[in-house]
Amino acid sequence: MSKPKIFITRPIPQLALDRLLPHVDYEIWQEQQPPSIEILSKKAHASDALLSMLSDPLNATFFDAPGSTLKIVSQFSVGVDNIDLSAATNHEIPVGHTPGVLTETTADFAFGLMLAAARRIVEGNNEVRQGIWRPWGPDVLTGYDVHGATLGLIGFGRIGQAVARRAAGFSMKVLYFDRSHHADLEQELGVAYASLDQILEQSDFISLHIYLSPETHHLIGKLEFEKMKPNAILINTARGGVVDHQALAVALKNGKIAAAAVDVTEPEPIQNDSPLLDLPNMIIAPHIASASKATRLRMAHIAVDNLLAGLEGRRLPFCANPAVYTKGK
Ligand code: DGY
Repeated sequence: MSKPKIFITRPIPQLALDRLLPHVDYEIWQEQQPPSIEILSKKAHASDALLSMLSDPLNATFFDAPGSTLKIVSQFSVGVDNIDLSAATNHEIPVGHTPGVLTETTADFAFGLMLAAARRIVEGNNEVRQGIWRPWGPDVLTGYDVHGATLGLIGFGRIGQAVARRAAGFSMKVLYFDRSHHADLEQELGVAYASLDQILEQSDFISLHIYLSPETHHLIGKLEFEKMKPNAILINTARGGVVDHQALAVALKNGKIAAAAVDVTEPEPIQNDSPLLDLPNMIIAPHIASASKATRLRMAHIAVDNLLAGLEGRRLPFCANPAVYTKGK
């Protein structure tokens, strides 16, 4: 019997790949840039399964391709905003993802961005490398204290909660805004529920931990920046689309807020002419918040678990569109 065909759009950690390869015929995309939508479509639709990345746009047109043999998608990330889940469900394709295992690593990074932006670590590093070592002075590269400050978390799922745990070690006052109240956690973590406006108006640091959806697209825009304190620092490790980048650039330039540090942009990669690239009070990382070696290996194992389960006709252990299993029942 022939083995199922898999298209993998990026090399993944070898230890996880080794568990998959004996069971499949595979192709791994090795180019520096992700496959174009045409190539992705051609290869995926001639395969039984696709191991995709968040840079692969799997929209309704992708799933509607006629004559496709694709039966399973296993995405190497927790976020699946690049995938039209209803289209996948309509075509009875389960979509796997990798929740849980990147929580702590991403929270570490969010905290790192907060410290780096508040204490101007990147600016200092850049000056030193440019041969500018300003004589030590009381006002050289002064920033803001993280300890004792008020942190506003927008979104209080796994990652938001992990950031709150770290904030306790810095004696921060933590407010959170979420779709639901988490009364149990409020006492355990010493956090308080606040409205979105209260978070915007009272926080020294605002950290975003929500999924991108039509409801959260540009949730943080001109009006929201108007409400923030002039010393506010915005942290985004969620998705670039949650923030209106034009409004962010204006807010940073006009001193409406003090700084921002993001791991995600809209689009990715950021456009070369983005005004954000010229601002010293802006830190931009290239979507690496989950990029520790251990976490990427854990993500790879889950992506492989999902694939193997799907290929064996079992339910994916981590399925982003569980409705696929009840469809038509
Ligand atoms: C995810 O898994 O969605 C993250 O953004 C990857 O870093």
